[in-house]
Amino acid sequence: MSQEPVQAGAGIAEQRLPRHVAIIMDGNGRWAKRRMLPRYMGHREGVKAVRRAVEYCRKRNIEVLTLFAFSSENWRRPESEVGLLMELFVRTLRKEVARLHKNGVCMRFIGDRSAFDPKLQSLMDSAEAQTAGNTGMTLAIAVNYGGRWDIADAARRLAMQVARGELEPQDIDSERLGQELSITDLPEPDLFIRTGGEQRISNFLLWQLAYTELYFTDLLWPDFNADAFDEALRSFAGRQRRFGQTGDQVEAGRA
Ligand code: IPE
Ligand code: IPE
Ligand code: MG
Repeated sequence: MSQEPVQAGAGIAEQRLPRHVAIIMDGNGRWAKRRMLPRYMGHREGVKAVRRAVEYCRKRNIEVLTLFAFSSENWRRPESEVGLLMELFVRTLRKEVARLHKNGVCMRFIGDRSAFDPKLQSLMDSAEAQTAGNTGMTLAIAVNYGGRWDIADAARRLAMQVARGELEPQDIDSERLGQELSITDLPEPDLFIRTGGEQRISNFLLWQLAYTELYFTDLLWPDFNADAFDEALRSFAGRQRRFGQTGDQVEAGRA
């Protein structure tokens, strides 16, 4: 007799849940604009959706959540919006880290943080240090992050190892380069979600998304809630991940 799989909420068997979800949280500005509010109000509302998403993943035992909070291209926005976003980061970190720590969340920041105000950098450093031992789930926040930066940075580090005589050029392969990238110690993203209706990657995790299932929703980020997350997980659970093999091979492997 076949064993019923364990149901892990949303009617999805535990083994069909993603271990790592990566999200482009897009649509804050449009959420505000539709309400005749300044864009900044959309970002503020977006923080509430971040809190909901983290709680959701914690409850569903999703191991890693990676959130795109600020891209290396977002510096191109008006200075006033960038300034308000930086203030919001600072305020949010001051307010949320203690609660995240209490809930067993390990925090990580990926991206080139050297561009940030020292005050913000030290908040990020101390959030990481405070939560480093937590094993409940990992929350990786991408700030001043760009997928191309990530790959170029990895290449530069390998080149430095070659220059120091620690590495032979012929030993560089995709596995070795992959080891130098951000979040390389974590499971690869299984599911990518982008809210806000655009169907593009916008320089998020370019390398790491090679075999990630992509999911796009028209919902604006501040409106993204548990029901919407359930729907994304249901879509993921219904997909067959083949990693280059045939469907029959995958079926045979599972039997
Ligand atoms: C995403 O929302 C948040 C950041 C990029 C910081 P947007 O601000 O891009 O919202 P839209 O796309 O203009 O609606
Ligand atoms: C991607 O959203 C970056 C973040 C959500 C942080 P954008 O709104 O910057 O993306 P584009 O410009 O529409 O591609
Ligand atoms: Mg946008």
